[in-house]
Amino acid sequence: YPCDVIRNFSIIAHIDHGKSTLADRLLEFTGTIDKKEKGNQQVLDKLKVERERGITVKAQTASMIYPYKGTKYLFNLIDTPGHVDFAWEVSRSLAACQGALLLVDATQGVQAQSISVFHIAKERGLTIIPVLNKIDMPAADPERVAAQIQSTFGIDPNDVLQISAKTGKGVDKVLEAILTRISPPKANEDDPLKAFLFDSSYDRYRGVISLLSIQGGVLRKGDKIASCHTRKKYEVTELGIMYPEEVPTTSLRPGQVGYIACNMKESSEAHIGDTLHRVGSAVEPMPGFKPAKAMVYAGVYPVDSNDFVKLEESIKRLTLTDRSVEVMRESSTALGQGCRLGFLGTLHMDVFRQRLEDEYNANVIITAPTVPFKVVYKDNKTVIISNPVDFPDTVDSSGRVKEVQEPVVSATIIVPEEYLGEMMDLCYTHRAEEMDHRYLDTSGTSARVILTCILPLSEVVTNFFDKLKSRSSGFASFDYEDAGYRPSKLSKMIFLLNGKPVDALALIIHRSAEQEVGRAWVKKLHKVIPRQLFEVPIQAAVGKRIIARETLSAMRADVTAGLYGGHYERKLKHLVNQKESKKRMKKFGNVDLPQEAFYDILSTK
Ligand code: GTP
Repeated sequence: YPCDVIRNFSIIAHIDHGKSTLADRLLEFTGTIDKKEKGNQQVLDKLKVERERGITVKAQTASMIYPYKGTKYLFNLIDTPGHVDFAWEVSRSLAACQGALLLVDATQGVQAQSISVFHIAKERGLTIIPVLNKIDMPAADPERVAAQIQSTFGIDPNDVLQISAKTGKGVDKVLEAILTRISPPKANEDDPLKAFLFDSSYDRYRGVISLLSIQGGVLRKGDKIASCHTRKKYEVTELGIMYPEEVPTTSLRPGQVGYIACNMKESSEAHIGDTLHRVGSAVEPMPGFKPAKAMVYAGVYPVDSNDFVKLEESIKRLTLTDRSVEVMRESSTALGQGCRLGFLGTLHMDVFRQRLEDEYNANVIITAPTVPFKVVYKDNKTVIISNPVDFPDTVDSSGRVKEVQEPVVSATIIVPEEYLGEMMDLCYTHRAEEMDHRYLDTSGTSARVILTCILPLSEVVTNFFDKLKSRSSGFASFDYEDAGYRPSKLSKMIFLLNGKPVDALALIIHRSAEQEVGRAWVKKLHKVIPRQLFEVPIQAAVGKRIIARETLSAMRADVTAGLYGGHYERKLKHLVNQKESKKRMKKFGNVDLPQEAFYDILSTK
């Protein structure tokens, strides 16, 4: 396949607009997969969590052959994940493409993510083919949505394709447009080998499998290659194309997209965005990529502290397939040995937790999520804090701390006009700044509005999304991107049992939320913590200030005293039980707390 018969493209869309359905249909139309074989499972969505939640987490790539006017063309579809947490993956997948299908649901119209993915694609200089999907549905309003596309992206409505990925209507036009509108990759066979690594997965037997786009030269089995990033050397043991599963070939030629296995043992060696070259002939690396940046951190502990080794092993195995998770060991007096994990966002965190539970039966306690805060000291030293325990107890002019900063995001919300008031109110209560809005369209019964603002990331990672959905009756769509750090009035809140702090429960919150959060947590602790032999004050404190307090009343001293009769055996059983549960207790001062109590405290929202 010479370059001019190759087309490398992606499908970009807001969640649920039909990306996976269209991908399947393209594979079917080109005979890459059999219609009957696949059942109703989407080929490109593989993970169980993905299927359950109906979202794509890990990008999957597939090649297909498209015959047109007597020539066979090689189309490489580079699938991108469909969630705001994974914008980073979208960006890196797009670096291997020359064009993208911008898929918009004709019943829903342009949504928040349609806009963010459009911008990523545009920045990368890709040719964009706008496609309206779901025109088979009675609620579809293609003219109106085409007008939205024109007003938002400046795209001529005549260039917009109308399809139904479900019935297959118009899908032939999509294939034709990929061929005629997207330019072939520019890569030369005689150039030195240059391969761009844009994704990797892990195979138990062959080690790391990397997906490459060949920018120049030819790659063959047995070739000795090296990474520009790590300088490590490898030998290609297998290579081929994804058709749609791995199909070995003898070579990968310029402009092609394919996979290689090359005795890479650890997935941490496969740096996304890395450039590979032939040993002995160096090349200019492709422009570097920003590495995945953790936006949300949480501590993960086993419910039974004896299971730590097992838990750590499971986490290691899972991170082999998901390298965007940051892992550090940590320990807590309350919860024992555990790991602090960094995630791209809360969905990423939920997905990881579910995989941990599903695939490894791990019973885990996850601490409240926290974002990476920045502490700037008076000598201008800056420290990023990913665990509330490490946050300074007090931040005032007398200490060494100059200021603290929190990460903020630039948020986009698209909503029907009648919910604008609700949405603005929601944003204000979550400390929004620089709020602005404009109309996306004015035609039809209910105009759509784009609301933009700057929001603290910590407000977004709690339950902002759920509130947004419920207060807009599900109509609002939301997306955000990193917008750096801003100074903020933050406090560290700690919780005391009988005067002793419980480290696993520390939180960093905005000063305006101290009262509300302090009261709510103290109430919750009061409900969950078992009564002791004596009275236990439960307090929330910021520095030396007590914000809230509840008192747990004492229980009767002898649990056996109230038992009917004097049955010795029964009494003994109780004593044994008491002893057993003692073992699982953690002591805070003289307060006993079972590990399960933490599970209850931290797993209820
Ligand atoms: P993510 O992977 O979560 O981003 O979603 P997606 O964009 O891949 O959407 P998916 O293909 O899973 O489609 C979402 C829903 O829309 C599914 O229930 C599809 O069956 C349905 N759907 C997709 N295309 C069409 C279409 O053309 N017509 C109709 N009626 N339904 C469609």
